Amino acid sequence: MNPINSDVRDRLTETSQTHLLRFLSELSTSEQESLLHQIGKTDLRLLRQIWKASTNDGSPIDAAARITAARSPGKVVRQPVSAADSERWKQATQVGENELREGRVAVITVAGGQGSRLGFDHPKGMFPIGPKTDRTLFQIFAEQILARRQRYHTAIPWLIMTSDATHAETHTFLEEHNYFNLGQDSVYLFQQGSLPALDAASGRILMSSRSELALSPDGHGGLVAALASAGLLNLLSQHNIRHLFYHQIDNPTVILCDPALLGFHAQQRSQLTTNVVRKESPAERMGVLVDINGRTEIVEYSELTPEQAACCDENGEWIFWAGNTAIHIFDREFLEQLAADESQLPLHVARKNVGFMDDRGEIVRPDDPANPNAIKLEKFIFDALPIAERTLIVEGNRSREFNPVKNRSGADSPDTSRAALSRIGREWLAAAGYEVPADQPVEISPLQALDAEELTARLKSGAVRLADL
Ligand code: UD1
Repeated sequence: MNPINSDVRDRLTETSQTHLLRFLSELSTSEQESLLHQIGKTDLRLLRQIWKASTNDGSPIDAAARITAARSPGKVVRQPVSAADSERWKQATQVGENELREGRVAVITVAGGQGSRLGFDHPKGMFPIGPKTDRTLFQIFAEQILARRQRYHTAIPWLIMTSDATHAETHTFLEEHNYFNLGQDSVYLFQQGSLPALDAASGRILMSSRSELALSPDGHGGLVAALASAGLLNLLSQHNIRHLFYHQIDNPTVILCDPALLGFHAQQRSQLTTNVVRKESPAERMGVLVDINGRTEIVEYSELTPEQAACCDENGEWIFWAGNTAIHIFDREFLEQLAADESQLPLHVARKNVGFMDDRGEIVRPDDPANPNAIKLEKFIFDALPIAERTLIVEGNRSREFNPVKNRSGADSPDTSRAALSRIGREWLAAAGYEVPADQPVEISPLQALDAEELTARLKSGAVRLADL
């Protein structure tokens, strides 16, 4: 046995993971190397600790105490209702526009998720969502970025986080579409890390084959380590980027680089700004922004019982109203601070069914939803909120900005999202003086107009024709 193996064996014995070497003697040299490399990259002690904690009766009490201490967020910049509010939003918009003109803004799209709820067999960004055409989510975001660049005569780098599951196809797709004319040198694809799934009953790391651990993406919180290891934090600093506009792959109506949100963020020197909307019902599957012991945090929908989600404060208002749209702005220096010690972001445990290879070398596919066989580990980027010294919450315009594609049918599905894109188009046309019947689909490319004012002006000048929409 070579010295590397003896060291590995000791660590595996100490953490009850020796089964990982069960098939070692049957593997080719390259497979052996690959397996040892995967084991070498894995923090076996940490995984053991997390599994023990997940079986420990203490943790639910901590979670309950956290929920009991939660209050609705004290300070939120609300949507404008008065003339004074409108003036404040206008000023913030001007500040944001200036940040854009100065080239201080980049976009980060997190696109590493497996999109299993949608049941689409490709990276979600490739999903066709246009109400009239097969315009994909990726194309809508690319066109928004291009249109903002043109409007402010500026460079806006686009950073796309992929995972092992989505990287190769995303890369090929963007190549095939010539990066939607953004210029390949300003689009940065970088891959997040992965973590092994553990057998829920024993804490043993699951294997997907004789030489591979059963790995899955390490959550969007993997962003921090992935940005640093791809050298992108340095690059952003060299380009004098100060603000990272972060969004999820699933919402085609996000207003990328929203000048008002950027402006509030810059005015208040916020390290982490979050856009929220009022939840439609307590049961809606959105995380919620709350204050817990003086810190801003997000409580995930999965952490709340239906009764807790519907809890009201002394004024009869929902405590958990402020739904997280997952639209954030990060201060670059704050991300650097997080990257200096990634252990600041905790690992979350989710019970899921995960297929694996058993000790006899046979593949098992558990499928009992009531009794998942495994625990999966993920980091959440929004756990950065309580670490930040200066956070800001800004209320967005829900019907305009938050229409995600998550499920195959029903709420948050392709049907509801396409209908929203058409509705927004019809509203812009109505503002320009054109009434369109409610059942007629409308599709406005961000390159035709980014907002109602731009559409009105372009229809007037003839740059955009009604027949093209
Ligand atoms: C998420 C938020 C929720 C918020 C809602 C708004 C979490 C845990 N919860 O819920 O608070 O109210 O969106 O729509 O995020 N992703 C990666 N890598 C990963 C995992 C996910 O890049 O390892 C990306 C996905 O591609 C997607 C985004 O993160 O863009 C959200 O992932 P998803 O798991 O679908 O979140 P939701 O449960 O919808």
